[in-house]
Amino acid sequence: MLPTRRLLLRIISFFTFFAIFCLFYTQNPVKTLINATSSTIKPPKTPKFYKILNWEKRESEKRLNNIEALIRANSNKLPNRTSNLSAVQLCSKLRSPCLPALKDFEGEIRTSPRYNLSTCVVQKSMSTVMTSMFCYLRDEKKFVGNHRELLKDWKIVRFCMFKNEFRNLGGVFKKFKIPPAPNNWTHIMMVRHPFERFVSGFVDKCYRKPVIQKYCNGCGRNLTCFMETELKRMGQQVESGKFQRTYEDRHFFPQSWRCNLHQYFSNFTFILYSSSHNFSITSQLFPIFRQHSVPQSSLDFIETSLSAGRTAHSTVDSKATSFIEKRLNSSPYLMELLVKMFYHDFVLFNFTLPVI
Ligand SMILES: *[C@@H]1O[C@H](CO)[C@@H](O)[C@H](O)[C@H]1NC(C)=O
Ligand SMILES: *[C@@H]1O[C@H](CO)[C@@H](O)[C@H](O)[C@H]1NC(C)=O
Ligand SMILES: *[C@@H]1O[C@H](CO)[C@@H](O)[C@H](O)[C@H]1NC(C)=O
Ligand SMILES: *[C@@H]1O[C@H](CO)[C@@H](O)[C@H](O)[C@H]1NC(C)=O
Ligand SMILES: *[C@@H]1O[C@H](CO)[C@@H](O)[C@H](O)[C@H]1NC(C)=O
Ligand SMILES: *[C@@H]1O[C@H](CO)[C@@H](O)[C@H](O)[C@H]1NC(C)=O
Ligand SMILES: *[C@@H]1O[C@H](CO)[C@@H](O)[C@H](O)[C@H]1NC(C)=O
Ligand SMILES: *[C@@H]1O[C@H](CO)[C@@H](O)[C@H](O)[C@H]1NC(C)=O
Ligand SMILES: *[C@@H]1O[C@H](CO)[C@@H](O)[C@H](O)[C@H]1NC(C)=O
Repeated sequence: MLPTRRLLLRIISFFTFFAIFCLFYTQNPVKTLINATSSTIKPPKTPKFYKILNWEKRESEKRLNNIEALIRANSNKLPNRTSNLSAVQLCSKLRSPCLPALKDFEGEIRTSPRYNLSTCVVQKSMSTVMTSMFCYLRDEKKFVGNHRELLKDWKIVRFCMFKNEFRNLGGVFKKFKIPPAPNNWTHIMMVRHPFERFVSGFVDKCYRKPVIQKYCNGCGRNLTCFMETELKRMGQQVESGKFQRTYEDRHFFPQSWRCNLHQYFSNFTFILYSSSHNFSITSQLFPIFRQHSVPQSSLDFIETSLSAGRTAHSTVDSKATSFIEKRLNSSPYLMELLVKMFYHDFVLFNFTLPVI
């Protein structure tokens, strides 16, 4: 009796999920049949979830600028550092307390075979924008024809889901029969400054929008507690050789642990990215795109779309972000924890190490 019921439940929940999925993900096939200029065409239908995104954005802004709760959770006095070693001394000594480089955590690659381009996407390093940009470049007409917008192609309903996605470069090489270098492909990886990525992750996941009950290692909004426990979490998983890959881990674990860089480091073109240094993503990407014959009309579309603003979950320029930045930057104790986590990200990607 019981197993039958369970099966039934499973079938029902599957169909519910399927129905919701379809609701979000309809591809509007009518459009391709009707002449675009004919008068019978319906006005463009914006995907329903765009409304949710706009709501989320407004709520976020309120929260990010009303930060009393955040200040309260971070009012404790911070301890002194336990050592007086510099970052390099600390992390290159024998039995260093710093995390190792280049572990096999996880990889996500998006491709645009039309232009011989691929990109490794890493949470909190422009992953949303890069994912929709490569979806667009996979087939510009289809993307626009389905009323998708670059800054709004939400992760769980993304238009190219499973269509241009790989786990590592090996899969890309094989699928497109890419010969050993030199060849006509460029594999891009956006790498964000580790300090900025961490702060952005903390503000987003531990303050703006916690998704689980005991969020951020049970530390809530407490930065000290989160940094101490997160470093431990990373260290333990490296030691055990088994990554749990939780939602939170994906937003904090080092960037050099992604996309099988231990194997494919030399096949990537890295673009260092920082929102605080007047960074223009297009000035870095477009020269590469031009080399790969991406037409000017597509570059224009990207340029226009990106200038429309930041993605719905952007956290920069908020009071919460500057508070956490300051709290971290002014504490040698916390900066030492940051260095222990991300020393190799700083070194491998040529970021200047902080003075601690
Ligand atoms: C479709 O539109 C074009 C103009 O863009 C027009 O020349 C053509 O006759 C139209 N075809 C139909 C079937 O309406
Ligand atoms: C930290 O170091 C300063 C100066 O070295 C000292 O005055 C202070 O008492 C120390 N604080 C703690 C909590 O150990
Ligand atoms: C660091 O601390 C050790 C003792 O813990 C001391 O011998 C050494 O002189 C200190 N170095 C610097 C640069 O302050
Ligand atoms: C992609 O690579 C193939 C094979 O090397 C080459 O023939 C083609 O011109 C390249 N296309 C672009 C857009 O770079
Ligand atoms: C990847 O990089 C390695 C080392 O530089 C090189 O030997 C290999 O040909 C590259 N593979 C591709 C497909 O570019
Ligand atoms: C790249 O593609 C061009 C044609 O677009 C071809 O002439 C050239 O040999 C290719 N280069 C490599 C290294 O495959
Ligand atoms: C934050 O966490 C640290 C370390 O776990 C703890 O010592 C401190 O008391 C906490 N701060 C507050 C305000 O709870
Ligand atoms: C970018 O840099 C220019 C000159 O270096 C400066 O005038 C401008 O305010 C900066 N913009 C931002 C957003 O930081
Ligand atoms: C870091 O700098 C070195 C020396 O300038 C350069 O050879 C290397 O390609 C750079 N690495 C990255 C990831 O930019």
